[in-house]
Amino acid sequence: MSASGVALRFDGKVALVTGAGGGLGRTYALLLAERGASVVVNDLGGSIKGEGKSSSAADRVVEEIRAKGGKAVPNYDSVEEGEKIVQTALDAYGRIDIVINNAGILRDRSFARTSDLDWDLIQRVHLRGSFKVTRAAWNHMRNQKYGRIIMTASSSGIYGNFGQANYGAAKLGLVGLSNTLAIEGQKYNIQCNTIAPTAGSRLTQTVLPQELLDALKPEFVAPLVVWLCHESCQENGSLFEVGAGWIGKLRWERTLGATVRQKDQQMTPEAVRDNWERICDFENATKPKSNKESISTLYEVLNKFDDKAGMSMNPTSGSMQMSTSGINPAEAVGKKLPLTEYTYTNLQPILYALGVGMTTKDPDHLKFLFEGNEEFSCLPTFGVIPAQDAMNGGFASIPGLNIDFTKVLHGEQYLEMYKPLPTSGTLKSEGTIADIFDKGSGAVILLDVHTYNEKDLLCYNQFSIFVVGAGGFGGKRTSDKVKVTKDPPNRPPDAIMSDVTSVDQAALYRLSGDRNPLHIEPNFAAFGGFKKPILHGLCSMGFAARHVLKQYANNDVTKFKAIKARFAKPVIPGQTLETKMWKDGNLIHLQTKVKESNEVVLAGAYVILEDTVHKPKANDTGMTGQLQSDLVFAEISRRIKNVGMELVKKVNAIFQWDITKDGSTAAQWTIDLKNGSGELYKGAARHRADTTFTMSDEDFIQIVSGKLNPQKAFFAGKLKVIGNIMLSQKLEMILKDYAKL
Ligand code: NAI
Repeated sequence: MSASGVALRFDGKVALVTGAGGGLGRTYALLLAERGASVVVNDLGGSIKGEGKSSSAADRVVEEIRAKGGKAVPNYDSVEEGEKIVQTALDAYGRIDIVINNAGILRDRSFARTSDLDWDLIQRVHLRGSFKVTRAAWNHMRNQKYGRIIMTASSSGIYGNFGQANYGAAKLGLVGLSNTLAIEGQKYNIQCNTIAPTAGSRLTQTVLPQELLDALKPEFVAPLVVWLCHESCQENGSLFEVGAGWIGKLRWERTLGATVRQKDQQMTPEAVRDNWERICDFENATKPKSNKESISTLYEVLNKFDDKAGMSMNPTSGSMQMSTSGINPAEAVGKKLPLTEYTYTNLQPILYALGVGMTTKDPDHLKFLFEGNEEFSCLPTFGVIPAQDAMNGGFASIPGLNIDFTKVLHGEQYLEMYKPLPTSGTLKSEGTIADIFDKGSGAVILLDVHTYNEKDLLCYNQFSIFVVGAGGFGGKRTSDKVKVTKDPPNRPPDAIMSDVTSVDQAALYRLSGDRNPLHIEPNFAAFGGFKKPILHGLCSMGFAARHVLKQYANNDVTKFKAIKARFAKPVIPGQTLETKMWKDGNLIHLQTKVKESNEVVLAGAYVILEDTVHKPKANDTGMTGQLQSDLVFAEISRRIKNVGMELVKKVNAIFQWDITKDGSTAAQWTIDLKNGSGELYKGAARHRADTTFTMSDEDFIQIVSGKLNPQKAFFAGKLKVIGNIMLSQKLEMILKDYAKL
């Protein structure tokens, strides 16, 4: 009886024990039967070396069980006939719950004398036999979503043993087999563990003295096997040494190791030699538990060298321990990532549009899907694509950012457009670590990326990147650089749109650039803790953005100013995305849910639309995109972003600009250095402007390039000022510091 008083019972369960005619296998069969299991007692009944056969061994144990009132049937096939043995269980009891791979023989020889037969027979009985029996049972276990499997290894495999090269190889092979079955079986509640037993039996008769044989009873091993086979036991993929009533668990240990190459240099054998001590030093050793954990070290190294690792950001939930991590905001904040270039033809915007669910079924979508369409355009949210390239690999070049890239989650996204994106071209993106803060459970890195077409600033992205487990470095809790989310109002939505994503949505979306296997490879997704590959957060955001664009902007991309979203939950391709929208002036609050689960996937999200009231009239030469002052304002906007707070303190005023072209207003801009952390936006001031300036596009350029003095311009009537004229001095300061091109 266990400490909790509940005996471990196996009533209704069917167990198959191979090689159960004697030794260890017999004790497993007896104990399981005693606990209520129906047992298939398999034994070929051959010699210790694997010669001959007989039914007597299995029959004897079956009789023994039945005599005690238990249920058992014999089977006399070799384990190489796995199907037949499992069939015996199905014929007699209709199911199979437990497989204990125990049958074994020995053909000990020093390695030099090991014959092909010595080698082959051992592999066939131990390794191939365990494979055949287990595979025959596997699908039955999968279908019933229950199974317990035991492999029998040996200390001779784990540590090596003179004269047992064949046996040691097969026995450690079984550990490898078990490790993978544990992974593949997990989701079907099939567990697989391995034991390396020591007990007196006919196999050990030749190697152990009699007293030890008598003392090391198989009964001191069987209870471990029986516990591992019980449905309440959750152990999976483990290896135990067991004997004499003692049980211990084994695991891998790995030195911290050393990277023995330099960036852009050849790796040499001498470098290996010279680092040998560090490579082999077990001080501070790690204990990797999975392939993923093991390989993450390699990704870290590749990222450090900025090599292409095939994947860059790995937004997995992960269950691993951080190995080496260190974040030093003082060192990292303000640092720039290497400039990246993104060249595209009209193919990429079309592929992206398909990736975010656009379809020829909707005639409105054709302008995003057909390059021959008169209004062929690029979706505004395509702006994330060149920008995401900027962070791929670039992080590793930043000092003070020693993070585990497998622990990175994409938390939030902000995108602001300054100009419609060209449908083809070469764009340059520059990333800056805007800020880092400490959430305790993790660190948040704010990455600002500005994307340019030549000198023309097209868009600005802010990626919020959450690094799981990298918090607690004593940093501040938030940042004034964050583009904050906004909760939707407490009233029913003004509009709802929904779209069913296709099962291949992620497969399609990833072709736009984020090739993380998490979005397509089931095993990789499983490592990350997801049942299935998940949709890219930015893909869901693309869906939501085009819902708003259609609902409130008639699919006019020039009206799309900005979007912000927090990725709250994953989406599985095939699910339905439903976007609720609330209009609040130019600001459209939105919330996207997975309709099937009613779970919010985009939270605190909003879109800002261009202030259409103040948009230049259509007959204003159509030159609005080509005002020279647009460039300057975009540049001022970019520069004040980094020092917004500081300027707000110094200036504390709102300036509005009316830029004229050929005598009429062609554009309005507002520099708000009074509210929040300051901002520059297109359109009239949302709060009352302190000073409004009116001047032509040309004169404006003359002033910022230093060719025209503002005072002179004022007196010459080229610059009109309404409101607080004294504040224009402060304005000069801004122009001097922040508008130099
Ligand atoms: P054992 O010789 O008493 O039991 C093995 C049984 O397997 C025998 O009854 C034999 O007839 C049967 N068998 C052999 N080939 C077979 C085949 N092709 N098909 C079906 N049955 C077959 O030996 P023991 O000690 O009970 O060994 C059980 C397992 O434990 C073996 O896998 C062995 O390698 C392993 N082991 C035992 C250790 C010990 O100290 N007894 C040490 C390490 C591992």
